[in-house]
Amino acid sequence: MIDEVREKTNIVEVIGQYVQLKKSGKNYLGLCPFHEEKTPSFSVAEDKQIFHCFGCGKGGNVYTFLQELEGISFPEAVKKVADMEQIPLSIEISSEPVNQTSGQQQLIALHERTRDLYHHLLMNTKVGEEALAYLHGRGLSDELISEFKLGFAPSQRDFLVQIAQQDKVTAELMERSGLFIRREDGSFSDRFYQRVMFPLNDFRGKTIGFSGRLLKTKDFPGKDQPKYLNSPETELFNKRQVLFNFDKARNEIRKQGEAILFEGFMDVLAAWQADIKIGIASMGTSLTEQQIAAIERITGQIVIAYDGDDPGQAATDRALMVLAEHSRLNLTTVTVPEKLDPDEYLRKYGVTELQNLLQHGRQTPFAFKMSYRKKGLNLENEADRLNYLEAVMQDLAKVQSPVEQDLYLGQLSNEFHLTRESLKQQLQMIRQTLRTTRRQQQRSIEPIPVQSVKKSLTKEEKAERMLLYRSMNEASIREQLVQTEFQFIHDQYQELLLYLDSYMMVHGNFVLADFLNYLKENEMKQLAIDISMISMSADSNEQEIYDLMRVISQSGIAEEIKQRQKEQLEARKSGNQQRELELTVQIIELTKRLKQA
Ligand code: CTP
Ligand code: MN
Repeated sequence: MIDEVREKTNIVEVIGQYVQLKKSGKNYLGLCPFHEEKTPSFSVAEDKQIFHCFGCGKGGNVYTFLQELEGISFPEAVKKVADMEQIPLSIEISSEPVNQTSGQQQLIALHERTRDLYHHLLMNTKVGEEALAYLHGRGLSDELISEFKLGFAPSQRDFLVQIAQQDKVTAELMERSGLFIRREDGSFSDRFYQRVMFPLNDFRGKTIGFSGRLLKTKDFPGKDQPKYLNSPETELFNKRQVLFNFDKARNEIRKQGEAILFEGFMDVLAAWQADIKIGIASMGTSLTEQQIAAIERITGQIVIAYDGDDPGQAATDRALMVLAEHSRLNLTTVTVPEKLDPDEYLRKYGVTELQNLLQHGRQTPFAFKMSYRKKGLNLENEADRLNYLEAVMQDLAKVQSPVEQDLYLGQLSNEFHLTRESLKQQLQMIRQTLRTTRRQQQRSIEPIPVQSVKKSLTKEEKAERMLLYRSMNEASIREQLVQTEFQFIHDQYQELLLYLDSYMMVHGNFVLADFLNYLKENEMKQLAIDISMISMSADSNEQEIYDLMRVISQSGIAEEIKQRQKEQLEARKSGNQQRELELTVQIIELTKRLKQA
């Protein structure tokens, strides 16, 4: 059914409903909906029924497109396409994301059971008493604690291990979950202990990881332990993608048209307690492009309310830069007074004051920079004063609105007793230089195709990819490689060939868009797309294939020789003459083969 719907659909028509596409050669081009760009690098190949963006690297078939753009599951995407094309479906499609491999579902289930267990310990048991008192002491209500399913991981090092073993969770799943630490003897211990647990959810609200805050007590001083400990990277959890509270805040952010970005979870919770439900936080790191893209998909405006201390202000400066560069979000900042963080501010001054601050304490990015750049300078000192003005005028030149620019020119002229005219002149000069450097940059970028942004491939890797390209399009070449047990240098290409071969056994003919469904891992999909986008002549010839194989196997042999030489050296050092001799013979043999290849 999946294939049938896809076959009856033209990807160009589906994507055309979201992106303005122009025919260019045999493909269609448009502005990529997945990242900000001004020149089109988003390409849709009608013959292959796939899309690919040369700018951000996203690519896939019609289902991938809808999944990514609308944040829906695979079955939902199939249903959506079927509806668009008015193809009746013979079965009911639930919104449960069955596209997830069952392995991932198991992992999510394990995380959610763990979350519920920790939550239960916190709310209902003696073990959790101190932690609960701690959270109450920080002003969190039971209602909020339950809403966020906060929990407690007890000090016992094998609490979760025992539960998992009772539940017959396999060692393999335990290992993959990141919830345990594997000792050298193969046994497990809990990763999180004596910590207040914050579940981390994906955008749909599924728990995919945790952050645990150390709870220091009399019996457990927790010296040398980090204040926060996060889940490690797993197949579910990627801290570059997660935004704390994004799942709960999303609708409210859409409705109110803005989001507030905090530094810590506790700040998000404090804001929630003050009925501000549009707070989100990144995972203790600066914002990533994925996070920015997710925010930008649901709103056009963001308020940065990081901590009022020096690191918080420095982080604000960085965030402004990153956001200006990678998004068109409208930005404002809030500086919390007295170097407090928003949570401390709430506890000190109360709900109304925090609401006031977040609503009325907003500054434009330039106003923020104007005061931030003063840090560490003595403006009574002439050199400092000039440096400051220079830096601030550079910032001001980047401000787009003339009204805003004029306002700050006035402020600066007052503050430093300079005439508006002289400041204006300086601004003109800076703008002039900015314009020329920008033009020069554009000129030097233009002739290079966007692909070159990606890391350039070695000659061997190019050959591997070209060979796979041929294998996709010509069954005889694939068969030749499989039958001769041809060795690629890089495992991922070997793997792709195997996938390709088993796909062909089932399907008989190659359709890239179907093959992408067949591949489970995103990396493999991406690789298949990249390879299919290589431009090569219509058909291969014997010489070409021979040359490609030669490039690859020669380099394979060369690698092997290097490896043996290393071993030989070690054998010599350790005085193992027998082994040294053996290796020498092998090296001679390999060198001969290299010459023949
Ligand atoms: N963080 C982290 N590891 C640490 C310290 C901080 O990952 N050792 C991250 C956490 O995501 C935390 C954020 O950085 O939420 C902000 O840190 P901090 O300001 O120290 O957290 P607070 O929210 O102020 O925590 P608390 O009030 O509980 O001290
Ligand atoms: Mn804090």
